[in-house]
Amino acid sequence: MTLAYARFRRQMAALTGAALGLDRQYVAESRLSPVLRAHRVADLLELTRIIDAHENETLIREVVDAMTNNETSFFRDRAPFDEFRERVLPQLMAARANVKRLRIWCAAAATGQEVYSLAMTLDHEARALRGWAVEILGTDISGAAIEVARKGFYSQFEVQRGLSTSHLLRYFHRHEEGWRVNEHLRARVAFGEFNLLSDPSLLGTFDVIFCRNVLIYFEPEVKRDVLSRLAGVLAQDGFLFLGSAESIGEACPAFAPVSNESVWRLRSRPQPKLALA
Ligand SMILES: C[S@@+](CC[C@H](N)C(=O)[O-])C[C@H]1O[C@@H](n2cnc3c(N)ncnc32)[C@H](O)[C@@H]1O
Repeated sequence: MTLAYARFRRQMAALTGAALGLDRQYVAESRLSPVLRAHRVADLLELTRIIDAHENETLIREVVDAMTNNETSFFRDRAPFDEFRERVLPQLMAARANVKRLRIWCAAAATGQEVYSLAMTLDHEARALRGWAVEILGTDISGAAIEVARKGFYSQFEVQRGLSTSHLLRYFHRHEEGWRVNEHLRARVAFGEFNLLSDPSLLGTFDVIFCRNVLIYFEPEVKRDVLSRLAGVLAQDGFLFLGSAESIGEACPAFAPVSNESVWRLRSRPQPKLALA
């Protein structure tokens, strides 16, 4: 590992929380090479100097886009979406029957497939949800990924990953070589850039948070901090969905597993003792 790569690893950890592998210099350089070429940056060492000097925010954003892994698919792993529809949604609808309001956050939404999968799932319950205000917010650190999500254009290959033909025909229309999510579904979701290293409290409180397949990239202390911030914006009776290979373990005692290890709830907060008169 060169000194330049050691410096770059520290910078990526500070910018995104990602712990790049010690032996991944070659991979990092090949991902970065189109960005370096486009910005006429000679090499990794020069890049680290520019990042330290905060000289070129556009370049830094493109570096983050290049270094993040935006792998995703529609209804990825399937089971969480079934769990959401069959168990989580009925519980929340019963609990929110008076306010008729639900807020859902996909906190590492990548190119949007997870968000649209949730929107399709909720659309199936449209009759029961008539009169409800349902917000679905998708955020990601990668501006390029969020741009794709917002547009809702997907290739034939992408729609073949996880979408049934009936979902495809109902919620998408042909667009150039691929498909576009229809306006009805796009109008039900919102996207924005958000770094999980920042404070989410301005986003408000959520009934459901999907934060799947991103904690695996973080060092344990970053994971712990991210989870405790998520705990701060999850409703006391809300649900947190993680990726199938992810677990909270010792990282955040605020959460307890629900039916399986991928769905978590907040443990009840200890009630303050009443002072006796
Ligand atoms: C592998 S994708 C997972 C996408 C989706 N949640 C899923 O499970 O299919 C991980 C996403 O996390 C995003 N990410 C990485 N670090 C992040 C951070 N610090 N804040 C927000 N998003 C981040 C990446 O840009 C990427 O889009």
